Amino acid sequence: MPSPVARLLPLSLLGVPQVLGAAAFDPLQYVDQLIGSRNGGNIFPGATLPYGLAKAVADTNSPSNQGGFTLDDYPVSGFSVLHDSGTGGSPSLGNFPLFPYSSCPGDDVNRCDFPKKTRANHGGFDEASVKAHPGYFGITLLSGVEAEMTTTHRAALFQFTFPRTDREGNVSRPLILQDLTDLSDSREDNGTVTVDPLTGRIRGSSRFRASFSRGYYSAYFCTDFSGPDIRDSGIFVNSRASTSVKTLTVSRGINNYPLPGGAFVRFESADTPILARVGISFISSEQACRNAEREIPDYNFSAVEQAAADAWKAKLSPISVSTGGGVDRSLLTNFYSGIYRTMWEVGYEAVLKDAEVEPYDWSSMGRGGLDSWKRLGYIPVQDFDYKGFGTFTRSISRTLEYSYNDFAISQIAKGLNRTSDAEKYINSSGNWRNLFKADQGSAFANGSDTGFVGFFQPRFLNETWDHQDPLWCSAIDRSGVQCSLTVGAKESYESSIWEYSYFVPHNQADLTTLFGGPAEFVRRLDFLHDTNITYIGNEPSFLTVFQYHYAGRPALSALRAHAYIPRYFSPTPGGLPGNDDSGAMGSFVAFAMMGLFPNPGQDVYLITPPFFESVNVTSPATGRTARVRCVDFDPSYKNVYVQSATLDGRPYSKNWLDHGFFTRGGELVLTLGGNESAWGTAIEDLPPSVGEYVGFNETLAGRGSGLRRSCGRPAAAAAATLRYSGRFGLPYNYI
Ligand SMILES: *[C@@H]1O[C@H](CO)[C@@H](O)[C@H](O)[C@H]1NC(C)=O
Ligand SMILES: *[C@@H]1O[C@H](CO)[C@@H](O)[C@H](O)[C@H]1NC(C)=O
Ligand SMILES: *[C@@H]1O[C@H](CO)[C@@H](O)[C@H](O)[C@H]1NC(C)=O
Ligand SMILES: *[C@@H]1O[C@H](CO)[C@@H](O)[C@H](O)[C@H]1NC(C)=O
Ligand SMILES: *[C@@H]1O[C@H](CO)[C@@H](O)[C@H](O)[C@H]1NC(C)=O
Ligand SMILES: *[C@@H]1O[C@H](CO)[C@@H](O)[C@H](O)[C@H]1NC(C)=O
Ligand SMILES: *[C@@H]1O[C@H](CO)[C@@H](O)[C@H](O)[C@H]1NC(C)=O
Ligand SMILES: *[C@@H]1O[C@H](CO)[C@@H](O)[C@H](O)[C@H]1NC(C)=O
Ligand SMILES: *[C@@H]1O[C@H](CO)[C@@H](O)[C@H](O)[C@H]1NC(C)=O
Ligand SMILES: *[C@@H]1O[C@H](CO)[C@@H](O)[C@H](O)[C@H]1NC(C)=O
Ligand SMILES: *[C@@H]1O[C@H](CO)[C@@H](O)[C@H](O)[C@H]1NC(C)=O
Repeated sequence: MPSPVARLLPLSLLGVPQVLGAAAFDPLQYVDQLIGSRNGGNIFPGATLPYGLAKAVADTNSPSNQGGFTLDDYPVSGFSVLHDSGTGGSPSLGNFPLFPYSSCPGDDVNRCDFPKKTRANHGGFDEASVKAHPGYFGITLLSGVEAEMTTTHRAALFQFTFPRTDREGNVSRPLILQDLTDLSDSREDNGTVTVDPLTGRIRGSSRFRASFSRGYYSAYFCTDFSGPDIRDSGIFVNSRASTSVKTLTVSRGINNYPLPGGAFVRFESADTPILARVGISFISSEQACRNAEREIPDYNFSAVEQAAADAWKAKLSPISVSTGGGVDRSLLTNFYSGIYRTMWEVGYEAVLKDAEVEPYDWSSMGRGGLDSWKRLGYIPVQDFDYKGFGTFTRSISRTLEYSYNDFAISQIAKGLNRTSDAEKYINSSGNWRNLFKADQGSAFANGSDTGFVGFFQPRFLNETWDHQDPLWCSAIDRSGVQCSLTVGAKESYESSIWEYSYFVPHNQADLTTLFGGPAEFVRRLDFLHDTNITYIGNEPSFLTVFQYHYAGRPALSALRAHAYIPRYFSPTPGGLPGNDDSGAMGSFVAFAMMGLFPNPGQDVYLITPPFFESVNVTSPATGRTARVRCVDFDPSYKNVYVQSATLDGRPYSKNWLDHGFFTRGGELVLTLGGNESAWGTAIEDLPPSVGEYVGFNETLAGRGSGLRRSCGRPAAAAAATLRYSGRFGLPYNYI
């Protein structure tokens, strides 16, 4: 499920199409769309363009919340054009599927199976027949029908190749049906479809429940065929069909079950493949027809496929990595497949209005509880909110996230020279403190104490504390409590208070102080990972891998990244630890392997050694190339500690960079070694924070918590407490 962390990922880096980069290097060879098609990755593995509306793939009737196609032994029930990737909340769209038959038994149209459930009996396939590459998806059913598909922005082109005859030697007389349904059976009343008896054009529309959202949407389609002559056409309802009826309006049906209904076209022969062109629109079926006619005028499958592949190549080419140095091919596949998945949804929405105006329905937009937020400085558990409505849970997560929202607003305000707004929101960005209970301990379920004190806790409207076990909803919690959107769920969303402890991305300095200093901050972070309290399969965990940077221990971030990749993210169909959430898992892998992990929502990239000898990123905005190059790179990843660095030839000791590196271009050279060093550990090396780093000094940063000792730079200015002046608050020029 997408969290604000995932939504804020700075995809701008990858966001603008342009053909740039090393001409000879073909990143598409390293993309494997099938990663995450097993084990609930719920990815969309089919054919699409970068950010394309049309997403064509085979739909299986798997009970998982699939992004269309899965490799979990369930048969294909159709081929459809609308999908999203891995929300995990419900199966993804899958509207208006096509299904092909070589013939109907006895040439009797009523002996073909029309309903989704029964036609899946004809959708078995051999996994080896599945072919997927950027812009293309193909599969051969056990019935002998081969289905291939490719897309433009608003239309898909399917190519069905049928056996010429059946087993008894009877000549094939193909039928292709199109069904007014979707994967989650959400169709409402009055779906309509019409088939033109002369041309075979099928047009239609239906209203559906929103996939991973609320409310309803209407979708429209327009399907044309090219190939053998059309024999006849008609409509079907439930399991019965007729060639004499050409138009249907169908109800949802009783018992909450969308009644199967749709249209079909039959063809004279299977001598040549049949091309089906499906245009999609959210406006009208006329618009859907125009989209298809404009984007795929001549049914040239290979031309559409080539254009789609070219679009992907242009999109991935700005990032090129050194394939030398002995790096395993599977890691390259992991990297490029991760970047590929980040391009299925942009979703970077402004939050300004959301800060002040409470919407009537705040579960899908804006923020709720704003009266309490302004009056108390936190979202209370069991809030009294009569202005807007949503699920009245997650008060801790909401308080932490609203604090971070307000920080982001303050930075925008600063950039617009709205000084008083900037000050107002920097103030409320500190509201996270209001839920920090300094004496709150945490014990395991067996009663033994974790030894850590000071956690966020829920608070009532009357400002007294409520209680939530900090380990509830962690990956090791067996209590059965819920932390999702259900009624009665707890105050932290999809995660534990333990994990949310670190979610103050804008003020790690003050958080460190509350935790008892950098050594304690590191010890707690180690405990979070080492005891499996955190789970890398969901977004709240992502930043915790790299937060060692803020305690002056960038080496530990590098170690953690290698502990999770490839172990928990392997380039195989079952290789994702959780649902892909529209590319969030892909972003994590890609940024971690690139060695520049963004603190989402900030102009801060935390530096760790890339998984490759070098990485080039060509800015689509400026055309300049930023390069990270490792000296003494070690493909077995024993040398994962930065010893020293230079930026454009000059010594660089900060453990982070800003986005200017990418737009200006330049070269960051990291010299690696097998032991932790003093690089990036001094206060002036740490990433910006609203509060000041106090109580740190260069020798302090928690040395010896399991790592080998530093042999790096002598701690020259060690004695005094350094005060970091480049903080977010006033002088830091953030925007
Ligand atoms: C094959 O054709 C024969 C003769 O027309 C017919 O009796 C039989 O039902 C057909 N088989 C199928 C599977 O359609
Ligand atoms: C479906 O159509 C019928 C007949 O026109 C109408 O009475 C009904 O309100 C429609 N239902 C919806 C959900 O639009
Ligand atoms: C289809 O497009 C390809 C690539 O653009 C081209 O080579 C081929 O001639 C086209 N085929 C037809 C039948 O126009
Ligand atoms: C990266 O760019 C440098 C020059 O800026 C070039 O020499 C090198 O070949 C590029 N590497 C890759 C992997 O593209
Ligand atoms: C904000 O003020 C600075 C300094 O006066 C100026 O350079 C900048 O252009 C201003 N920005 C906007 C968005 O007005
Ligand atoms: C921010 O907080 C400070 C200290 O509490 C207060 O003096 C100041 O008025 C606040 N500023 C705004 C704009 O709310
Ligand atoms: C209690 O559980 C924790 C976490 O599983 C474990 O580390 C610890 O050894 C257990 N303690 C006892 C006394 O069983
Ligand atoms: C505060 O509110 C909670 C929840 O309604 C209640 O249980 C508690 O008794 C109240 N405490 C005080 C001091 O009013
Ligand atoms: C944490 O989980 C991993 C993977 O499941 C397992 O290998 C490891 O033993 C676990 N650690 C603890 C402390 O339970
Ligand atoms: C790491 O440091 C230890 C102790 O100084 C030294 O013995 C060892 O050789 C070093 N390892 C590497 C790979 O440099
Ligand atoms: C700096 O670190 C040293 C060694 O841990 C410690 O003895 C000293 O008190 C620290 N100084 C300050 C000002 O924190």
